[in-house]
Amino acid sequence: MQDTTPKQIVVVLDFGAQYGQLIARRVRDLNVYSEVVPCDITAEEIAEINPSAIILSGGPASVYAEDAPDMDERIFEMGIPVLGFCYGQQIMATKLGGKVGHTDKGEYGPADLHRKGESAILAGTPEDAQTVWMSHRDAVCEVPEGFTITSVTETCPVASIECAEKNLYATQFHPEVKHTEYGNTILSNFLFNVCGLEKTWTMDNIIEDKVQEIRDQVGDSRVILALSGGVDSAVTAALVHRAIGDRLTCVFVNHGFMRKGEPESVEEVFTKQFDIPLVHVQAQERYLNLLKGVEDPEQKRKLIGTEFWKVFFDEAQKLDGIEFLAQGTIYPDIIESGARKTGGKASTIKSHHNLIPFPDGVHFDLIEPLDHFFKDEVRALGTALGLPDHIVHRQPFPGPGLAIRIIGDIDQEKLDILKDADLIVREELDAYNQRLFEETGDRNSPHACWQYFAVLPDIKSVGVMGDERTYARPIILRAVESSDAMTADWAKLPYDVLSKISGRVVAEVPGVNRVVYDITPKPPATIEWE
Ligand code: XMP
Repeated sequence: MQDTTPKQIVVVLDFGAQYGQLIARRVRDLNVYSEVVPCDITAEEIAEINPSAIILSGGPASVYAEDAPDMDERIFEMGIPVLGFCYGQQIMATKLGGKVGHTDKGEYGPADLHRKGESAILAGTPEDAQTVWMSHRDAVCEVPEGFTITSVTETCPVASIECAEKNLYATQFHPEVKHTEYGNTILSNFLFNVCGLEKTWTMDNIIEDKVQEIRDQVGDSRVILALSGGVDSAVTAALVHRAIGDRLTCVFVNHGFMRKGEPESVEEVFTKQFDIPLVHVQAQERYLNLLKGVEDPEQKRKLIGTEFWKVFFDEAQKLDGIEFLAQGTIYPDIIESGARKTGGKASTIKSHHNLIPFPDGVHFDLIEPLDHFFKDEVRALGTALGLPDHIVHRQPFPGPGLAIRIIGDIDQEKLDILKDADLIVREELDAYNQRLFEETGDRNSPHACWQYFAVLPDIKSVGVMGDERTYARPIILRAVESSDAMTADWAKLPYDVLSKISGRVVAEVPGVNRVVYDITPKPPATIEWE
């Protein structure tokens, strides 16, 4: 018999501009599993997912605009509790017979909310003057039949509405935004009081579920995984290993372009700490030969990527009984590729899989145990699985590594210079971040350096060392503040930190006589130089 009990999934209908992702993260922070789906999902598709609750996200459009994002109004008739935010409130109202008006004085930013009467979702929040975050010109001006207005602001007479009988709730403001003082209370009220959900999305449960899922999927077979040194593949390896032990083999292709000490540390963690069978392919020379004379960054990327899979599959074919390839695909990769249509664990459309260039006659089924996790959840999972901080909190690092931080062609000498300079940059800025953390108590201080490294340009300049003139290379220091790499600003590092880095690089790295600091934000520059 089919199980019709709603699943502990909160489905977020995304009406645009990343609002959905943020809401799903907030729900998960409250230990309830949540997925983002496109807003045009049908009632039938929702029924297939069988969620316990639905949230309608905000969005930048106006509900009456010609190409405004639309939704299937039959969803409101399914008996599933629905909560809408901003555009979500407006579309709920218009679909159910209310009206939305265009206000001249749109509210952007903080506003004081005043409650009116009883409200299931505002319970436990102050009657007056709680700060909420507004960001829209349009607002509901006529509420649908059966709904009551539960709060107002000075300029917004319909700041929240509800129809408790049908379990429909909505706010003009954004409870998912941190500036909304009682945002978490409002979300919790909906999830736990209205929908009666339980806090099942916890690290222990997640690991237990995932381990079982992997065991069921893999059976008695074996799995191979390409370890890159990055967080996602490392956590995937630790998780798959927890599930199937030494039936997992990791292949680590050392192309020689990782940061100094990283290949050794990857080997140490995975073989000594985790005791995972690891094939460490020493391909440094092969890559140096391959890239000899290549100056174009795109060409470098392409050659490195193509060679990687060649080396990887050469090794994979030497192993017996492998049926599965584990990959560290994470949730934003899936959402951003637009691959997901209907949500639900079984229905991910894995279009990105075509990207793996299986050689003729070779095929492995894919397992992607992290494909429903946000990056910070992946890190938390890594920590819970016992991975060390230097892997779990590793800064972003391009797959082609230092090869794209050497401008122009690459040789061993340049690679050695860059690795040594880069190590100094890392040592000094790790220490700077640590000091900042100790002073502020905030590991995510906005002034912490988010990504920092050295770049080796293809020029030389004159200098003087001791009594001698030098003609040597400069090192470019790149250090940025960012939260997602989409935009970034150069880090306003204290002069003494800059001075120490410059002094150390020139004194300790032969062949370098100058250090310059890149003070360009992104945009217009990019974080990397190539
Ligand atoms: P840009 O330079 O475009 O970089 O501002 C944004 C972020 O992406 C990283 N990056 C890469 N990561 N392969 C990767 O896996 C690449 O080819 C690549 N190029 C840039 C970069 O380090 C930054 O965090």
